[in-house]
Amino acid sequence: MDSYIHNNFDLFNGDCADKLKSMPDESVDLVVTSPPYCMKKAYEDSKDDIKAFKMHHEEILSDIYRVLKVGGSICWQTGYHVTKDQIIPLDYIVYELFNSLSNNNEAPLILRNRIIWTFGHGLNSTKRFSGRHETILWFTKGKDYEFNLDDVRIPQKYPGKRYYKGKNKGKLSGNPLGKNPSDVWEIPNVKANHIEKTVHPCQFPVSIPQRLIKALTPEGGVVLDPYMGVGTTGVAAILEKRHFIGCEIKEEYFSIAEKRLIDTENGVVKYRKDEPVMKPDKKMAVAKLPKEFALARRKKYEKKKT
Ligand SMILES: C[S@@+](CC[C@H](N)C(=O)[O-])C[C@H]1O[C@@H](n2cnc3c(N)ncnc32)[C@H](O)[C@@H]1O
Repeated sequence: MDSYIHNNFDLFNGDCADKLKSMPDESVDLVVTSPPYCMKKAYEDSKDDIKAFKMHHEEILSDIYRVLKVGGSICWQTGYHVTKDQIIPLDYIVYELFNSLSNNNEAPLILRNRIIWTFGHGLNSTKRFSGRHETILWFTKGKDYEFNLDDVRIPQKYPGKRYYKGKNKGKLSGNPLGKNPSDVWEIPNVKANHIEKTVHPCQFPVSIPQRLIKALTPEGGVVLDPYMGVGTTGVAAILEKRHFIGCEIKEEYFSIAEKRLIDTENGVVKYRKDEPVMKPDKKMAVAKLPKEFALARRKKYEKKKT
């Protein structure tokens, strides 16, 4: 295992199970990660299946729990294991594993939110509805925890709304800092033209860990991503002035992660700001319905009428 220690981050090119064993108890404020889903991606063992998914988790979860501070958080981002015949929601499995891990502990892991991350692009299915969401399970270690809601509020659609009855009648009804971002997050995924895209087939966007880091850690806190891929969580941690610890087993992704983190320190990393998804400008040619589509729709409508 190779270690690379910088001012703002420590990176490990190797198996996270080894790194975790060497970390002190209660030294991390937040774990954010997206583990491999056994989907036969370039970075996975082609024989891996759900059994392997569980086994890899069982190997590291007690250390994840041990290194987390009481009052800290774990955010585990997963999707679905997709086979020819069915889809299996991985967060059900993760939930069971985390629950059984700390049930009898003084500081149990408590599920606070099941965040739905929804995005616009992906494979188009013909035998079921196309998948356009994944989930993030947010657990806290113990009952008291860091939660900086004001740091992640988002703009209201109608900020000028006022109470229309009661003692506050006529006063503005919203929070001046914006509204709670809710547990459904619409954030573009990192596909071909996204400015954050690298060679990694399954990057998540910087905005996801960035929101979690702002909300769930103090400034200067420590963020760990045991499966960091090309270092997206690290980019977010450094942007938010937190210390980052990341592990990646593949040298190719590890090198890209290291470069992205150095670019972040130097203020030149490319990332998409966490801003509301824009509605298309109806004047743009690509936003207009093509004539062929209009014709096909009319035909279908007419056929249904007859
Ligand atoms: C879903 S990807 C994470 C992508 C990451 N969120 C990003 O935005 O780049 C999972 C990563 O875990 C790495 N990995 C798999 N097993 C590992 C292990 N035992 N230790 C460390 N990294 C591992 C894979 O090579 C892969 O890059």
